[in-house]
Amino acid sequence: MNMNKKIIEIKNVTKIYKIDSLKVNALNGIDLEIDNGEFLSIMGPSGSGKSTLMNILGCLDIPTSGSYLLEDEDVSKLNDNQLAEIRNKKVGFVFQTFNLLSRTNITGNVELPLIYSKGKKSRSRKDLISEVINSVGLAEWVRHRPNELSGGQRQRVAIARALVNDPAIILADEPTGNLDSRTGEEIMAIFQSLNRQGKTILFVTHEIDLAKHAGRIIYLKDGAITGEEIIKDPIDAQKRLEDMPKLEDKINSLGENISL
Ligand SMILES: Nc1ncnc2c1ncn2[C@@H]1O[C@H](COP(=O)(O)OP(=O)(O)O)[C@@H](O)[C@H]1O
Ligand SMILES: [Mg+2]
Repeated sequence: MNMNKKIIEIKNVTKIYKIDSLKVNALNGIDLEIDNGEFLSIMGPSGSGKSTLMNILGCLDIPTSGSYLLEDEDVSKLNDNQLAEIRNKKVGFVFQTFNLLSRTNITGNVELPLIYSKGKKSRSRKDLISEVINSVGLAEWVRHRPNELSGGQRQRVAIARALVNDPAIILADEPTGNLDSRTGEEIMAIFQSLNRQGKTILFVTHEIDLAKHAGRIIYLKDGAITGEEIIKDPIDAQKRLEDMPKLEDKINSLGENISL
């Protein structure tokens, strides 16, 4: 158990992408501390370095310079195998485009991270998979493939997959970018629920209305943090959903307006 209040501490992190002789300065000296159990939003225009920062925080990539302590462990200079091991234990990823295997059913998709790890010894793999699939409300869909599901359901599968190794941190890079506003709110409700259960959530968006579901927002521009905002009263997704019409309600009210 990590007794440190800080789960992430990065100092003066830079990332330079080199393409032939061209250099892109994607991150220009980022300092950031994230508390264990925080829900943090990262906002910024396209190209500001949000995904680059997420990839480094999630151990998909290492910085060009600067330090990164993840649960007090220096992860800024690890090789690919070491990074993969940390990633598998500590982080779960959710992407805008879901990134599911299309030829594999829901169970197979959620099982994937367990194949790379040793799995949980105390409980059977099958129980674990059904538990996370149930937790995102997809129990009836386990035998279906991603293309038989709606966008919102696909993102729930991706969340279940991110949860199966019980990571401390969930990184979500524009997870609602391909969803309508009600479905996006449903996904935010899941993240808020996971955060209440103690998960640290890092959430990238360029919509302020979504960013305000978190307790803190940092603003990124040209690879640098330009501001920070504490949200005293974050938007409660569950409450907001109660005020939003469901698709069936919309169709019903359309029906009522048709006079026979
Ligand atoms: N793999 C890469 N190779 C070269 N340049 C990249 C790569 N990934 C991102 N970039 C560049 O780095 C900058 C930041 O990109 P990114 O982190 O994807 O921003 P955002 O997610 O905020 O849109 C952009 O100028 C982008 O073109
Ligand atoms: Mg991006």
